[in-house]
Amino acid sequence: MISLNINGQQHELDVPDNMPLLWAIRDVIGMKGTKFGCGIAQCGACTVHLDGVATRSCVTPVSAAKGKITTIEAMADDAVGKKVQQAWLDLGVAQCGYCQGGQIMNATALLKKSPQPDTREITEAMAGNLCRCGTYNRILAAIEQAAGKQEETSS
Ligand code: FES
Ligand code: FES
Repeated sequence: MISLNINGQQHELDVPDNMPLLWAIRDVIGMKGTKFGCGIAQCGACTVHLDGVATRSCVTPVSAAKGKITTIEAMADDAVGKKVQQAWLDLGVAQCGYCQGGQIMNATALLKKSPQPDTREITEAMAGNLCRCGTYNRILAAIEQAAGKQEETSS
């Protein structure tokens, strides 16, 4: 049995040790906010927090997920996550939306670690989160807004 603490709830799962955490979250527990993109740690769609650190759940075996796991579903009750989501809404960041849960999880982890990141820090931190709709400029602006910079975006 594998024991996972997700969003403050304990889950006991009868799954193989090497099952990717993403599979457990989506297919076993049934929380669909965390997305499958590439499955090889290249896109960021599957980003969750493991003890506050942005983590690719598609390449994290459940046996390695021993800390506190936080998913996009918990961001509405998270002080920083709420600010990030509000900025996303204010600036209309999402297009198809598929990558956005992972983007928000990565942005929230960044702002918790570094509440006032400069543009370069944001760009570097977000570089591994791909968006096929090309919403990068709005993502940058939304993170800056959530960090309190209140900058306008033009795209
Ligand atoms: S699905 Fe995990 S990084 Fe792409
Ligand atoms: S909004 Fe469509 S992939 Fe990012």
